[in-house]
Amino acid sequence: MNNNKVIEAQNLTKKYGKFVAVDSVNLSIGEGEVFGFLGPNGAGKTTTILMLMGFSEPSAGSIKITGYNPAREPIKVKKVVGYMPERIGFYDDLTARENLRYTGRLNGIETKKLNAVIDRLLEDVGLKDKADQLVGKYSHGMKQRLGIADVMVKQPRVAIFDEPTSGIDPEGTDQVLSLIQNMAKEKITVLISSHQLHQVQKICTQVGIFSNGKIVASGSVDKLGREALRKGKFNIILPIAQVATNVRDDILRIPGAVSIDNVADSTVVVADDNISKALEEVVYKSTGLKVQMKVEEFELEEIYMKYFKES
Ligand SMILES: Nc1ncnc2c1ncn2[C@@H]1O[C@H](COP(=O)(O)OP(=O)(O)OP(=O)(O)O)[C@@H](O)[C@H]1O
Ligand SMILES: [Mg+2]
Repeated sequence: MNNNKVIEAQNLTKKYGKFVAVDSVNLSIGEGEVFGFLGPNGAGKTTTILMLMGFSEPSAGSIKITGYNPAREPIKVKKVVGYMPERIGFYDDLTARENLRYTGRLNGIETKKLNAVIDRLLEDVGLKDKADQLVGKYSHGMKQRLGIADVMVKQPRVAIFDEPTSGIDPEGTDQVLSLIQNMAKEKITVLISSHQLHQVQKICTQVGIFSNGKIVASGSVDKLGREALRKGKFNIILPIAQVATNVRDDILRIPGAVSIDNVADSTVVVADDNISKALEEVVYKSTGLKVQMKVEEFELEEIYMKYFKES
């Protein structure tokens, strides 16, 4: 297996009796990536996560997380992987700070370092003022925020969040998302399951769309958009309303160029590859203008709907 890959799964399958909850899922997630699990209720996201964590035994297939097999080396996996479940559990009779200290100590974080880490995390998740309140008196959103801190306090190599922003207010959601993005900057590999497509699009480098236990599409939002909505073609937008005939001809001679159309006050070149650099050159040579090309961007929501409208 490739050493840069932090999470790998092959033909991962989970059956409950005859029902196949997860059906031959393949994953290959590199260091520092933020990978989003998407899909309707019951599609198999949580079941996949539970197998990755070693909490549920696969019916078939193989998993490697940072090189370990979660079914055979569960303790090693739990040492390097931080996990925030769908329903988070804390000790209600301990304060937030005490709960984090418990997690940190159990994971062998040095006591001297631990207090400073906890202070910073409580501040980051916006719970500084409630740090010494019993978690039993926390609201749902406060527990979610504490859940993020609880993942981070382990200083994990991999962080897995099952719907981390459900129940958090909009401001808190933004805070949580930027925390997750910061993790990726520190080379932590993140896996996140969510129904909030707009947010997933903001932070994920790759997504996998689950439907009936299968991953029906995966890759960057750009790649999925092209596949699902543009038959694999690139739409490159020139911010020019009209292109002279000779320039059109030059553009269509670029290898990979398929067609050229006027759309509103722009010109759209359809191509088999991202030929924007070659386009810029052609336009510059024939008009003397330095025109910035833009490759069409996609909305994850539109891609998602495409998969579920038709099934
Ligand atoms: N312990 C179990 N026994 C039997 N069936 C189960 C069990 N756990 C999950 N399932 C079934 O497996 C399927 C996948 O469930 P899973 O919890 O993985 O979905 P999910 O994608 O996480 O959904 P959600 O978006 O609602 O969290 C569902 O049909 C569910 O009913
Ligand atoms: Mg779930």
